[in-house]
Amino acid sequence: MGELRGRDFLTVNDFTGGELLEILELALKLKKESKKGLEHHLLRGKTLGMIFQKASTRTRVSFEVAMWQLGGYALFLSAQDLQIGRGEPVKDTARALSRYLDGIMIRTFDHGEVEELAAFADIPIINGLTDLLHPCQAMADMMTILEKKGRLKGIKLAYTGDGNNVAHSLLLAASKLVMDVAVATPKDYEPKTEILSAAIFNASHNGSEVIVTTDVKRAVAGADVVYTDVWASMGQEAEHKSRVSAFKSYQLNSELLAAAAPGAIVMHCLPAHRGEEITEEVIEGPQSVVFDQAENRMHVQKAILAKLL
Ligand code: CP
Ligand code: NVA
Repeated sequence: MGELRGRDFLTVNDFTGGELLEILELALKLKKESKKGLEHHLLRGKTLGMIFQKASTRTRVSFEVAMWQLGGYALFLSAQDLQIGRGEPVKDTARALSRYLDGIMIRTFDHGEVEELAAFADIPIINGLTDLLHPCQAMADMMTILEKKGRLKGIKLAYTGDGNNVAHSLLLAASKLVMDVAVATPKDYEPKTEILSAAIFNASHNGSEVIVTTDVKRAVAGADVVYTDVWASMGQEAEHKSRVSAFKSYQLNSELLAAAAPGAIVMHCLPAHRGEEITEEVIEGPQSVVFDQAENRMHVQKAILAKLL
């Protein structure tokens, strides 16, 4: 575990495809061995701080259990209860916490805040979701695709819905890992230009394809993986009504799924809103792998923690 040690995990785009695969391979190995009852105390005596400015079920529990199973310890730190919630600068929080902890996982709104934390902390900072990105989710998703499809290279991933944090990290991860990725969103809800340009740059270097379209059937045609996420993310609750009407023809339902390749898998990062971005029938159907994805958050984060810390 050489050159990944000490680095931050703010975006998958900071890593090469080879480095991402190295993390995925370790995650698969840790998962397989822990199912056999093997323990991996790779982080004995290490402590991870987990700062949450937004709600979480999977991220909080999977990181906390991951640290415990690695022989370390994790502290849940609600941003409201930290001095940060009363206006203490991020740069001071970063330097103080660096004196106690071996790493910090943070979930917040502004991606710039995570970058500032990383700039001032001298321990690894892991992005547990910002308004811009959700890199740990994308890594769990890549691991799940690898398990279900046996490879990543040449797989077509279609995403339908909002061009949000999850779509952004999928664009970056898939393009780094030589997958074809097609994102369908309504007009005005496309992925951010800076993210799209980075994904197109990655794809142009390895011969894969990145498509962004308003034509959802075109995006899903022949896809091996069909993915969706909520229409109103955390912090966008006030826009819920207008978003429901903008996104209604982007729902992942049986009719849309029929346009994908036979045996395509259905993915969702969760939490899901049945009847909005996905139907009950599809999320509970035989093609859905959403709880394997949720499980893999823990295994892939163990690998990230073990490599970085
Ligand atoms: N997918 C995900 O990040 O879930 P939580 O919001 O529950 O952490
Ligand atoms: N896009 C969603 C993902 C939740 C895991 C949100 O940001 O709320």
